[in-house]
Amino acid sequence: MESTTLSSVIGTGTRDAAPDPQGEVYRSRNPAHLDDVVAEVHLGGASALHSAARAARTAQREWARVPAPVRGRAVAELGRLVEANKDSLARLVTREIGKPYAEALGEVQEIVDTCDFFLGEGRRLYGQTVPSEMPDKQLFTFRVPVGVVAVITAGNFPVAVPSWYLVPALLCGNAVVWKPAEYAAAAARAVAELAWRAGVPQGVLNLVHADGESTFGGLESALEDGLVDKVVFTGSTAVGSRVGELCGRHRQSPCLELGGKNPMVAAAAADPDLAVEGALFSGWGTAGQRCTSLGNLIVHRDVHEEFVGRLDQALRAAAIGDPGGDVLYGPMLDERFAAGFESALETIADHHEVLGSDAVGRIGSSAPRTGFRGDPESGLYYHPVLLDGLRPDDHVFTHETFGPIVGVSTFSDLDEAIELGDAPGYGLSAAVYTSDPATAFRFRQGTRAGMVSVNNSTSGAEAHLPFGGNGRSGNGSRQSGIWVLDQFTRWQSLNWDFSGKLQKAQMDVDTIEPDRGYRLPPELGGTP
Ligand code: UN1
Repeated sequence: MESTTLSSVIGTGTRDAAPDPQGEVYRSRNPAHLDDVVAEVHLGGASALHSAARAARTAQREWARVPAPVRGRAVAELGRLVEANKDSLARLVTREIGKPYAEALGEVQEIVDTCDFFLGEGRRLYGQTVPSEMPDKQLFTFRVPVGVVAVITAGNFPVAVPSWYLVPALLCGNAVVWKPAEYAAAAARAVAELAWRAGVPQGVLNLVHADGESTFGGLESALEDGLVDKVVFTGSTAVGSRVGELCGRHRQSPCLELGGKNPMVAAAAADPDLAVEGALFSGWGTAGQRCTSLGNLIVHRDVHEEFVGRLDQALRAAAIGDPGGDVLYGPMLDERFAAGFESALETIADHHEVLGSDAVGRIGSSAPRTGFRGDPESGLYYHPVLLDGLRPDDHVFTHETFGPIVGVSTFSDLDEAIELGDAPGYGLSAAVYTSDPATAFRFRQGTRAGMVSVNNSTSGAEAHLPFGGNGRSGNGSRQSGIWVLDQFTRWQSLNWDFSGKLQKAQMDVDTIEPDRGYRLPPELGGTP
C-alpha cells in the first residue's frame, strides 16, 4: 500500500513544501497491519502553530468580507466533494485508525450531513432588529466571526468531529489552524485537501502537524501574541483542563469536548433484546473508543442475571477482526491506546467476574479468540471484557477506559441508578432502557449528562443536535446544530439614532402614568 509524506500546510505557500530536515518524523501506522506505514508525518515545533496562527490572522480579514452565502457555497461544495470521495475517505479512515469500514462510511456521512446543515446557514446567520426605548432610534444585533480559531482534535473520529468545528467556523467567517492527532494525519490531510479544493482559501484553513507539548507551547505563545481568538479541543479531560486553564488566563472560554464514563441503565421494564443490542454496540463497538462509548452498565437487580447472561453470549458470538470486514470492532486506534487499555486491564480484581471472551488482553496465538476474522498477530487486537460485580470504587467504574471493557453494577431503585451513573463525575451521554415513560422522564431529569438516550445506545448522536457534556466531560460548551454558532460568532449590537438630537438612554425616555390604586367596580365584577 502506498505511503505518503506529510508536512504542515501553513499560509498560501506550496502544499508540498520540503519538510524541515531537523524536525521529528512520526510514522502513522495502520493499527490492523502494523508494518503498513500510512504516512510519514514531519512534525513542526511550537513555532509552526504560531506561524499558522499568524497566517490565519492575515487571511481572516478577507475571508470575513466574503458574503456569508458565498462562504456557504464553499461549505456546499465541500459536502459534495466529500460525497464524491466517500469510499476513498472511508477506506483511508479504516486503514489509518482501524475503524470498521461500515462505521467509517457513517463517519464520512457525518461530514456530509454537517455540510448540508450549514450550507443554508450562510443565507441566515440571523441577527435581530430590536425596538428602542426612544423614538427615531433603531437597535440591531449582528453575529460577527470571532477571528482565528485553533482546532485541536483527537483521532478516534478523525474526519467527522473535526468537521463539526471546521464547517461552522469557516462558514461564520473565521480562519482556522487545525492540529489533528498525529496518528490520524493522513485522514486530516485528505479532509483539508477536499476543503481547499471546495474553495476554502489555503491561508484560511491551515493544517499543522505537531506533538502535544509543541502544540501547547505554540498555542500559549499565539495566545500571548493575540493571534488566536478561540480554542476548540476534543480529547482527554486532563489535557482539556490544561487547555481550559491556558485559555482562562487569556480571558477566553474554549469549546471543550472531553471524556465520558457514560452510563446505561437497564431498568426492570427494559426490552432485554434491545438493551443487549444497545449495550453491545455502544460498549464494544469502535473497540470502546468513542467519547460516547458505554462506560458503566447499571442493571436492575431483578433482571441482572438474565441480562448479563445474554450479553455474555452476544459478546462471545461477536465478530472481531480485520476492520475491512463485517466486524463489531477492529484494532485499538494506536499503540498508546493499546497501552492505556492494558493498564486498565491490570486493575481487574478477584471480586470481578470476567466474562465476554476466551481470554483477557491481546488476541494472539497464545490467547486466541474464537471466530477471529483475519490475522490477530498483525494488529492491535484485544479481547472484549464484560466485568460483573463492579464496586463504586473500582478503577473500571470511576475511570474512562477507552477500550473494549464494560463493568456491570446493580441497582434497586431509579434514584440509586441515577446516582451511580453520575458518580464518576463525567456527564456526556447517558442511556436508559425501559418501556415505562415515567422512568424515562425521571432519568432524563435526574442525570447530569448533556445527551440522553431512551431505548438507544449512548453513542451515535445525530449531527444536528447539540453535542457536549458537563462535569469532567467539558465546560458546558456545545458542538453541532445551531447551538455551535455561539462558539464561532460573537454578538455585536448596533444602535442607530436618526432623531437628529442626543437622546440619552434611561434618561430621555417617555413615561406612562398608570393609576395603580384602581380596582374593578362592582358592575365590572369588583367586590362592593
Ligand atoms: C467522539 O467520540 O468524540 O455520537 C464523538 C457518536 C458520534 C460522535 C462521537 N457521532 O458516537
